[in-house]
Amino acid sequence: PRPILLTRHGESHDNLRGRIGGDPILSDAGEKYALKLADFVNKRLKTERTASIWTSTLQRTILTAHHIVGFPKVQWRALDEINAGVCDGMTYDEIKENMPDEYAARKLDKLRYRYPRGESYLDVIQRLEPVIIELERQRSPVVVIAHQAVLRALYAYFADKPLKEVPHIEVPLHTIIEIQMGVTGVQEKRYKLME
Ligand code: G3H
Repeated sequence: PRPILLTRHGESHDNLRGRIGGDPILSDAGEKYALKLADFVNKRLKTERTASIWTSTLQRTILTAHHIVGFPKVQWRALDEINAGVCDGMTYDEIKENMPDEYAARKLDKLRYRYPRGESYLDVIQRLEPVIIELERQRSPVVVIAHQAVLRALYAYFADKPLKEVPHIEVPLHTIIEIQMGVTGVQEKRYKLME
């Protein structure tokens, strides 16, 4: 069976400041994770003839893949983080303060709530469809380096979680979720490479 390795990008400067969206680079800790991830991937996929590394088009995932060498890399716009529209670049406290109705609406129905001029989780799930089809077709391992909202949706698909849980699934930073699809179903392992 071929594994699919899912991971968020290393910690970014915006993660540190609690800002959503944007296109930030990695913090020192995030940069350290990129090195650890490359080491892990090299060991884990050493015996594989081929494998590919998929990222979003955002810097923080591309930089996280930077030290992984010897495998083809593919950038997918469909793996970009949920588009927070007018809230892009804000902190949750700023949204709560300046746009209390939006904040409340999202809290009430995080799955369906669509950021003004942005996306909802349902939108993200829909745009991931081609990625999922391609993942299912792959015969060799794939490392997917993406973002929290996107990985919640991908993980939910493979782990067969109900839609309503998607926006609340925990996908911690600096952790690899390995999914194996075998004849007996889906198996999962987690590797926490650092805090
Ligand atoms: O920047 C967006 C976050 O990764 C998604 O988090 O949907 O829990 O606000 P949230």
